[in-house]
Amino acid sequence: MKISVIGMGYVGGTTAACFAELGHEVWGIDHDDKKIEVYNSGKAPFYEKGLDRLIKHNSAEGRLHFTTNISEGIKEAQVIILAVGTPPKEDGSPDLGTIEKVAQEIGNSLKHYAVIVEKSTVPIRTAEWMCSILGKYLESDKFDVAACPEFLRESTAVHDFMNPDRIAIGTDSDRAAQVLFELYKPIVAPKIHTSIKAAEMIKHAVNAALYMKIAFAFSVSQLCDAEGNVDCVEVLKGVGLDKRIGESFLQPGPGVGGFCFPKDLDAWISIHKKYGVYSGLFEAVREINRLQKQHVVNKIINSFNGDINGKKIGVLGLAFKAGTNDMRLAASIDIIKSLQSKGAKIIAYDPKAMEDAKKIFTDVEYAPHSLHVAENSDALVIMTEWPEFKELDIKKLREKIGIIIDTRNMYEPRRMKQLRYVYDCMGRPIK
Ligand SMILES: NC(=O)c1ccc[n+]([C@@H]2O[C@H](COP(=O)([O-])OP(=O)(O)OC[C@H]3O[C@@H](n4cnc5c(N)ncnc54)[C@H](O)[C@@H]3O)[C@@H](O)[C@H]2O)c1
Repeated sequence: MKISVIGMGYVGGTTAACFAELGHEVWGIDHDDKKIEVYNSGKAPFYEKGLDRLIKHNSAEGRLHFTTNISEGIKEAQVIILAVGTPPKEDGSPDLGTIEKVAQEIGNSLKHYAVIVEKSTVPIRTAEWMCSILGKYLESDKFDVAACPEFLRESTAVHDFMNPDRIAIGTDSDRAAQVLFELYKPIVAPKIHTSIKAAEMIKHAVNAALYMKIAFAFSVSQLCDAEGNVDCVEVLKGVGLDKRIGESFLQPGPGVGGFCFPKDLDAWISIHKKYGVYSGLFEAVREINRLQKQHVVNKIINSFNGDINGKKIGVLGLAFKAGTNDMRLAASIDIIKSLQSKGAKIIAYDPKAMEDAKKIFTDVEYAPHSLHVAENSDALVIMTEWPEFKELDIKKLREKIGIIIDTRNMYEPRRMKQLRYVYDCMGRPIK
């Protein structure tokens, strides 16, 4: 099948390469000519495990092409997938300006029937609105709009795309449904055919539910910290083994970040407000996340007996999680800025996100590796769960550094106490 993907970021780049790998002929389109140049050189302009190999292989096989020109890229497409960004506006609602612009360009260029698919995360009724835009340019039998939201996670994006828990095909047209079931045929997964509005809502509802679960884990870890003698890892294990709840997304951390959960929760709240439905549950989730970042800052300050002015704090991990370079809304941003506002100096290392971090923090010293950070700071903060951070020789390091704040619970508190560290982590007793 011939398909086009508009917006070649984390989602679009993965989608284009994976559909090509499944045998479709794919055009990847982005208005950013530097990104397209990188794709044309056989790799992605961001870090995602396994993706470069797919891009190189499928480009060489002639199934994957890239362009900045929408009209050229959609010339023969049976399916046009929109994967452009939907960033938050001031009031939390998503900015659909790019969707509108792209819909106008498609309307201006399309000469044959195509199914236009929302893969970007968009609020309910976006498809309806897109139809009204496209309808200004095209006869109604020249297009259908559908919603197939994407559930992949950065850092495991290729695996998630190829092995989804389900594929939601949201369309009210039999013709479009047929095309989209054919498109997804090579992927073995439960496929549900829903209305467009239901598919739009599924994506926001899934992210709200997952964020709620993470906030629950944060809340339990805060309670365990306050109690002082209960290990939240044991509590959350006991909770997660209940099949009605499940173990995934039940780990405490420094705060939720990334381009999905925070912005999608804000959008979900704004949708509730628009319809006059109580949104307090989700506002509490957002507040727990804010408090969790503050909780980490407090732990760091307490480890210095209340004063971090002039102290050099080493941060390991800057992106919103391990396995990605994505700095968007990363917890490290608020935490580092808060520490700096109290007079601390920051030295940091991230295996993949240093260049992206430099665009955000100008007053951070960047180190060549994790050991350099550890050996050149007054306290070490483990911010993301890269396995290499666990491999530091913690015994030897004790000669250089005395304080470690472990926001990912990577080390064993008992061992850290034996080594006489001032050690703190999330919701675990230190004894
Ligand atoms: N990142 C994730 O993990 C994830 C997962 C599921 C869903 N989503 C959703 O998918 C959408 C895309 O997310 P992303 O993380 O890939 O964003 P991104 O910012 O990485 O990618 C968006 C791309 O669209 C391009 N673009 C912007 N305007 C354009 C235009 N007029 N014409 C052509 N290209 C244009 C940008 O250059 C960029 O490459 C969002 O709605 C997001 O919420 C993201």
